[in-house]
Amino acid sequence: MSHIWLIGMMGSGKSSVGRELALRRAQPFYDTDAAVEAAVGMTIAEIFGSEGEGRFRSLESEAVHQIASQPEGIVATGGGVVLDGASVETMRSSGVTVLLEADSTALISRVAQGDDRPLIAGDPEARIGEIAADRAERYAAAADVIVDADGSIAQVADRVEQACAAS
Ligand code: S3P
Repeated sequence: MSHIWLIGMMGSGKSSVGRELALRRAQPFYDTDAAVEAAVGMTIAEIFGSEGEGRFRSLESEAVHQIASQPEGIVATGGGVVLDGASVETMRSSGVTVLLEADSTALISRVAQGDDRPLIAGDPEARIGEIAADRAERYAAAADVIVDADGSIAQVADRVEQACAAS
């Protein structure tokens, strides 16, 4: 399988860009967050609330491994997927990892409306900056290519396609 694995912070546009790419390429679209929710019949907020982040991470890792064996497609991952070394290895050995990189201001404006991201609940502005700084090295190490995620969905999808063609 040679998936395109979209990685990056919450609000970087992985799901919307991933759907656009899947349409363009007539390939399946996968989403690790949706796979986790479907696996246990709970929302992510419910999993964090009742079973904790550790349980969510182990479900997320299972989702990555399961999706890796599916027909070639585009995968939107949860922002924390890079925290698990085995998931990073699985992604890189089953396709290309594309980091969607945006600055904190852009990320905050995209996530500010929702209440479904437990890690930034309460103070999204502060938390996004902290989490991005904590994970910066992991994102860079996990990425085969890095794409600027500022701009429209179509513009970012163009950049991903160009970067994948050149990689
Ligand atoms: C998380 C990102 C979320 C989701 C969960 C944890 C993270 O996905 O997996 O809330 O640790 O960055 P999105 O990146 O799709 O928002």
